[in-house]
Amino acid sequence: MGKATRRDFLQRTALGLAGVSAAGFVLRNDAQPTLATVSGDEANRVLIQMGSIPREETPAKGELKRVTPVSFGPWYKTGAPFRAKLSLPGEPGTTFVLSGRAWAFETKRPLAGVVLDFWHVDMQEKYSDGVSDFRNRGRLVSSETGYYELESIRPIPYRPNPSGSPNFWRCAHFHLLAVCPGYKPLVTEIHFKEDPKMSDSMYRPENAIAPEKRTVNGLSFETGVFDIVLERETVSK
Ligand SMILES: [Fe+2]
Repeated sequence: MGKATRRDFLQRTALGLAGVSAAGFVLRNDAQPTLATVSGDEANRVLIQMGSIPREETPAKGELKRVTPVSFGPWYKTGAPFRAKLSLPGEPGTTFVLSGRAWAFETKRPLAGVVLDFWHVDMQEKYSDGVSDFRNRGRLVSSETGYYELESIRPIPYRPNPSGSPNFWRCAHFHLLAVCPGYKPLVTEIHFKEDPKMSDSMYRPENAIAPEKRTVNGLSFETGVFDIVLERETVSK
């Protein structure tokens, strides 16, 4: 290949790559989510990547607050699948993206590898049975920066015993069990600010997240952020 020919080849190749870049790898301004072209259950599947995932393993800013524990309740089941979308595709309810970071209380550093086990009610005020049906249950593992993110539906307040105690309401909540070797397991509930049932005696304002409404590519959903802080397990001698 002569000089002129090689230069011409390189120019053509560069142009070709630019073309690929423009046509294939860069979304146009008017790009639409693929959801618009599917139907049925797939049309209701929402895959959402929140904006900024923390990259740095820097210590937490300010003081880390311990998370107030709240008891398991009767509907915890072991063996929930590992997944980041807890609800069924097309399940009724407000799509909700919950995210946050796991931290080590003593070191103020992000905690990787924490198994986060979530469960919550559906729009019928019911928990799945956790045997043959794991709707609205799932486990995730915190990333190397302690980050986690799940998608589900927003839990609603519910009556644990609607026939026997129809006026007893639980505030809306995600249940959470967080487990990490060397740390005390944390069992708690994540509550919501301005919950209509915050008169529930188990409501913990310090555990309440502030939901925000978002719309991305025409998809509306709510978000909330909840950080998880684990304390070192004390070793008895
Ligand atoms: Fe509950």
